[in-house]
Amino acid sequence: MTGSFPQSRCRRNRLYPTIRQALMETVITPSNLVLPLFVVPGESVEEPVSSMPGVQRWSVDRLGKPVEEAMEAGVRCFLLFGIPSYKDPDGTSADRLDQPVQRALRLLRDRYPEAYLVGDVCLCEYTSHGHCGIIKEGNIDNDLTLKRLASVALSHAEAGAHAVAPSDMMDGRVSVIRQELDGSGFSDVGVWSYAAKFASAFYGPFRDAAESTPAFGDRRSHQLPVENRLEAIRDALMDQDEGADLLIVKPAGTSLDVVRDLREEARLPLGGYVVSGEHSMLAGAISAGLLREDAYLEYHLCVKRAGCSVIITYGAVDLARRVRRLL
Ligand code: PBG
Ligand code: ZN
Repeated sequence: MTGSFPQSRCRRNRLYPTIRQALMETVITPSNLVLPLFVVPGESVEEPVSSMPGVQRWSVDRLGKPVEEAMEAGVRCFLLFGIPSYKDPDGTSADRLDQPVQRALRLLRDRYPEAYLVGDVCLCEYTSHGHCGIIKEGNIDNDLTLKRLASVALSHAEAGAHAVAPSDMMDGRVSVIRQELDGSGFSDVGVWSYAAKFASAFYGPFRDAAESTPAFGDRRSHQLPVENRLEAIRDALMDQDEGADLLIVKPAGTSLDVVRDLREEARLPLGGYVVSGEHSMLAGAISAGLLREDAYLEYHLCVKRAGCSVIITYGAVDLARRVRRLL
């Protein structure tokens, strides 16, 4: 009987821990979590990012430490961001095999066969102006940028990436990258597309860490307006049609409506990116004693409940340990 009170009492299913656990609809396991890593040039670098509690930037020779710590906790997927040794207007350092991301991919692919390595593909960390593409007459030129992105993706594949994650929001990048990879013998390399990426103030702390703040203007000519749900879905579904293997929504927590809609409309696994500002907001409030520690897990559970298979998050290792303790 599922009628009304008093025959029906919802609390019967919640009265004891055992039945609550038996009926749990959403679980996060360590293998659902993806840890972003910031890789910098040089040696013996292990420096905290001041705007992101608990996050560090590593030189390639030090990467074993965070990677082994993560694997120990059950986190085996990594998303790599790089700070290059030089920047110029065309971001020519982005597709060089001697730069931090490519060197890191090569090393980790060799050393940790169970790790799944994803390279973030964008130009903003590599251009002197900090924009995500090639500037022509004051605007980002979409099609010129596509050529560069394809080359960056190929360099990640050559260095050992299992997948590439284009985060630039240019039109057509998924199909151009797919073609480039297939044409070069990398048909097994996946494309994790940042399919619905909003122009968000919550990326602020990341831009400190990645040194990618635009020198002028903003990213609203390519990232989605936060006001527009239908536009987000249209853009994401285009990435599905172009051959993406996984669709990323970001920021995750402010876009759960979009996650929910895509879970209905798309036929691909979804990823939620709990971005730097969301991380810092939660971690900051927790360390200030304003929120309890389990707020961090709750936030991520909601991202999973909305329909994400994987969650990209700076707190992946702590979360993995926590959910293991709860099992
Ligand atoms: C680069 C990129 C950004 C993020 C991921 N890839 C920043 C941006 O678009 O300015 C944001 C990640 C975060 O805030 O954690 N295009
Ligand atoms: Zn960018």
